[in-house]
Amino acid sequence: MHTGEQYHNFMLASQRDQMVRDRFQQVALNLLPAGADILDFGAGTGIDAKVYAAHGHPTFVYDPSEPMCGHLAQYCRDEIARKAIIEIASPLACKVQAVTANFAVLNHFADHALLFEDLSHVVHRGGFVLASMLNPYYLGDARYGWWRANIMNLLRRGHYAIPSESRIHRFTPRAVARAAVPHFRLERLIPRGFGLATDLYMFLLFRRL
Ligand SMILES: C[S@@+](CC[C@H](N)C(=O)[O-])C[C@H]1O[C@@H](n2cnc3c(N)ncnc32)[C@H](O)[C@@H]1O
Repeated sequence: MHTGEQYHNFMLASQRDQMVRDRFQQVALNLLPAGADILDFGAGTGIDAKVYAAHGHPTFVYDPSEPMCGHLAQYCRDEIARKAIIEIASPLACKVQAVTANFAVLNHFADHALLFEDLSHVVHRGGFVLASMLNPYYLGDARYGWWRANIMNLLRRGHYAIPSESRIHRFTPRAVARAAVPHFRLERLIPRGFGLATDLYMFLLFRRL
């Protein structure tokens, strides 16, 4: 287990993760109308939230982990003081144009149907949910026994979980898209084609119908 501070320092020091984070933030910022508000769902220590707030987006943050929230409160104290970042105890406590969930937040869920139902009350019609999730087709994981043992489960059922990995679930994009219906439509998947074999993370953009 790590504290919020350890996670924070690790993430900021990892060039590879920072490159993925930059790409994710850029996709979100390009989609957001000027001044639109956003919920960073599973905000962790507030690394993305600080950036969204700096770009003029009022940013709600929700995370169930106390260590993460504790570090976020320190890291984003100025933004919180001037209400550019607003901490909330439930994701349902805001109504926003967009929800982001960066770095595998949605992999903590066994099923996304209830989550998308909840988020349909949070996101305005025409708004979006942008999530980065562990890419189940990433060939870099093929060296692990658990990946090879589960590839048929993935193809047959669209998902699987590894008990030893804190119940992190892996999903095909199609399985998540099915769970989002009827409230959201999968509008974009990044990467596509060969990138799905080489990128650890995939970004899924859902449009609120
Ligand atoms: C790998 S961290 C990513 C944190 C942050 N989004 C970032 O980009 O650094 C995954 C986060 O998901 C959060 N999480 C776990 N279960 C969750 C749930 N049911 N709802 C919302 N967030 C959850 C964890 O507390 C953790 O902060």
